[in-house]
Amino acid sequence: MHWKIIITAAAATHGVHAAATLRFSCSQLVVERLDPLVNPGLNPSPHLHQVVGGNAFNVSMDPSVHDLPTTATCTSCTPTEDFSNYWTAVLFFRAKNGTFHRVNTFGNELGFTQATGGQTVYYLTTGNAKVTAFKPGFRMTVGDPSFRTAAELNAKYKYMDYTCLQSSMTRGGATTNFPNKPCPAGIMVSIRFPTCWDGKNLDSPDHQSHVAYPQGNSCPSTHPVTVPQLFYETYWDTRPFNDKSQWPTDGSQPFVWSFGDKTGYGIHGDYVFGWKGDALQKAMDTNCNSDLFANKINCNVLKTQSLADANKCTKTTQVAENLDGWMKELPGGMAVM
Ligand SMILES: *[C@@H]1O[C@H](CO)[C@@H](O)[C@H](O)[C@H]1NC(C)=O
Ligand SMILES: *[C@@H]1O[C@H](CO)[C@@H](O)[C@H](O)[C@H]1NC(C)=O
Repeated sequence: MHWKIIITAAAATHGVHAAATLRFSCSQLVVERLDPLVNPGLNPSPHLHQVVGGNAFNVSMDPSVHDLPTTATCTSCTPTEDFSNYWTAVLFFRAKNGTFHRVNTFGNELGFTQATGGQTVYYLTTGNAKVTAFKPGFRMTVGDPSFRTAAELNAKYKYMDYTCLQSSMTRGGATTNFPNKPCPAGIMVSIRFPTCWDGKNLDSPDHQSHVAYPQGNSCPSTHPVTVPQLFYETYWDTRPFNDKSQWPTDGSQPFVWSFGDKTGYGIHGDYVFGWKGDALQKAMDTNCNSDLFANKINCNVLKTQSLADANKCTKTTQVAENLDGWMKELPGGMAVM
């Protein structure tokens, strides 16, 4: 999977455009304890998230009343017609004395160093089937925050992992649990969503069963529609926490997710589609691609903005809680287990 993406992206930089390999930066929009998909209306939600995309992100985002492209006034992503929201949990460092410190995201050093954190988003075509863009109101999650073992994760999900960055260029050697050694250039978290849709439901009660993984190279008959491979890469700046003398003495690693996971197997991501009109479909149909080492989308059907402008799209948090400095407990008092 890794190699496939690297090869496709490399091909894109060499003028072979057999597929869409859209890759772009979305700066940090807000870090707050809201989850309009899993806990609509709940302020605060149980655990903390880092969110990117359009500024229509809110406590509730019911698709029947909340239209992202018309509600949002800016996006933290570089394609300016993308008002989608993308979010993940937040990483924390747990010190020997049991206090927690939030870990920041930082701009992907492959082209996006000037982004104020956030994440890299990819929309890729996979296989030979025609790719159908997501529809207005579409949303999904991948992963399960309750999982704490490899067996649980592997039985249900694929293609979500951690890369211990030796340098910003490190690819390969990914694990499905947190790296067990300090990572000199940070930790890259990769979250890839399933690529087959049932073609009918914009959402489902578990936010997952309307999508499925392909079987072999094609989508199963229950989920026959091939959608773009949505893929998040988040660079976590664990570099300030690499002093091994500050790590646990029992050989374990010190990072925990905001939902209390110290294993990493509870990795998960959330998506609410919010592209304007048919911009994403056009980008897929015209095999839009991106340079791997630059903030450059090669695509005459998409409008884009600079990283500096994307950085300007932020939201003030709607949840009154301090997220800075050393904390006695994770936000929301999530227990580490
Ligand atoms: C967020 O929701 C509140 C109501 O809960 C509303 O007043 C506000 O305008 C919304 N903001 C956006 C950007 O949609
Ligand atoms: C806990 O450990 C951290 C990291 O060593 C330190 O900065 C902080 O001051 C400590 N807090 C307390 C209450 O001892």
